[in-house]
Amino acid sequence: KVDLAALKAAHPLRVIDNGFANTACMESSITHIDGIRGTIRYRDFPIESLFHEYIYEDVMHLIIWGHLPNQQEKDHVREAMSKAMNPPQSVKDVISAFPRDAETFPMILAGMSAFAASDSVICKTRHQQSAMFHGHLDVADEALVRTIGYLATTISLIYCHKNEKTWTAPEPGRNLLGNLLLMMGIADPQVERCLAKLWILYADHEMTNSTAAVLHAGSTLIDPVAAISAGIICGYGPLHGGAIDLAYEGFRQIGTPERVPPFIERIKSKGGRLFGYGHRVYKTRDPRVSLIEELLVEHQDAVDANPLLRVAMAVDKYANQDAYFTERGLKANADLMGCFLYTAMGFDTDMIIAITILSRVPGALAHWRESLTQPVKLWRPQQKYMAPLAN
Ligand code: ACO
Repeated sequence: KVDLAALKAAHPLRVIDNGFANTACMESSITHIDGIRGTIRYRDFPIESLFHEYIYEDVMHLIIWGHLPNQQEKDHVREAMSKAMNPPQSVKDVISAFPRDAETFPMILAGMSAFAASDSVICKTRHQQSAMFHGHLDVADEALVRTIGYLATTISLIYCHKNEKTWTAPEPGRNLLGNLLLMMGIADPQVERCLAKLWILYADHEMTNSTAAVLHAGSTLIDPVAAISAGIICGYGPLHGGAIDLAYEGFRQIGTPERVPPFIERIKSKGGRLFGYGHRVYKTRDPRVSLIEELLVEHQDAVDANPLLRVAMAVDKYANQDAYFTERGLKANADLMGCFLYTAMGFDTDMIIAITILSRVPGALAHWRESLTQPVKLWRPQQKYMAPLAN
C-alpha cells in the first residue's frame, strides 16, 4: 500500500525563488565569481593572470580538463577537433538553403542538427545515451570536442553564406580559433591574436542562463549537441547575449550623442531596459571590462573609426551620472564592451553574438562534463499552485 502521507512529507518545501537568484543547482569546481569584490577565477587562476600570460586554447583546456595543457595534449585536441570540423554535404546544404539575410541563430540550430544527424555516436538512441556519457568521461570528451568543432564549422559556413565568400576547409594542426578564422577566410594575425585574448574573458561565467539551460537539457541525459542547442537558444535572448544586438540597434537609432538623454529618459519612463547595461552577479565593476579596455587601447584607431562608439560613450556617460542607473548598480556589461572590439575587427552584430557563443560553449560543456561525474538527477523544479481546488 502506498503511504501517501510519507510521499508528501518527502518534499515538503516549496520555495519561490524569482529568477533563481538564490538557488544553486550544482556543486562546481570550475569558475568562481565574487560579484561584490569584482573577481573571477577559473580553476582558481585569477582571470587577469590567465589573460596576460596565456591564450584561449590554454584556458579552454584548463576550464574543461582542470589543468593547463602540454603540447601533446594541445595537438591531440587540435587533431580531433579539426577532424570533426569537416562538414558532411548535408550541413553545407542546410546552411545554403537559408536566405542570406536570415537570422543567424536558427541557422546555427539547423547546422548543428544536421551535424548531429550525421554523427553515429552522438545520434544514438536515447536508451543508449544514458550509459554512453554518464561516468564515461572518455566517450564524453570525444563528443564534447566534436560538438565544439561542429559549432565552429556551422558558424563559419553561415558567415561565408551571408557574405558570399568561399568556405575553406580546416587544417589538422590548427587550434579552434585558428581554424574558425581559416574557414571564414579571415587571414589577419592581429584578429587572431586579439580574439585569443578576448575569448579568455568569455570562456566561462559559471551558472549563466545559457549554461544552466545546457545542464537542464543535459539532466535528461540528452547528447551534448542537443544540450548545447538549448544553451544557444538562451544565448540569443534579449536579456542575455541577444542584448548586444539590441544595444547596437539602440545606438543606431540614437544616431548622435545629443540624442542620448531623451532616448534614455524614454526608456526609464516606459520601464524599459537599456540593453548592454546591468548584470545579475556584479554589484561592482565587472573585472573583465578593464581587460577589454586594454585590448581596445591596442586597437584604438579601428575602434575610433566606429561612429557608434561616440554614441555608446555618450550613453555610458549619461548612465554613469544618472541616479536611476547608479542606485541600481547598472553598468555597461562586458559583452557590450567586447562588441566594440568585434566591430573594429569588421564583424557584424549578428555574427558577434554567434562568435561570442562559440567562445562560451567550451565552458558550458565543461559544466556538462562535470555534471557527468555527479549522480544522475533529472532537473525538475516545483511550482506553487495558486488557483482553488474543488476538493
Ligand atoms: N535598463 C534599465 N533598467 C534596468 C536594467 C537596464 N538595463 N537592468 C535592470 N534594470 C532595473 C530593473 O527594471 C529593476 O528596477 P526596479 O528595481 O525599479 O524594478 C532593477 O534594475 C533590477 O532589475 P532585475 O531585472 O531584477 O535585475 P537582474 O539582476 O535580475 O537583471 C539583467 C540582470 C537581466 C542583465 C538586467 O540588468 C537587464 O535586463 N539588462 C539589460 C539586458 C542585458 O544587457 N543583458 C545582458 C547581460 S550580459 C549576458 O547575459 C551575456
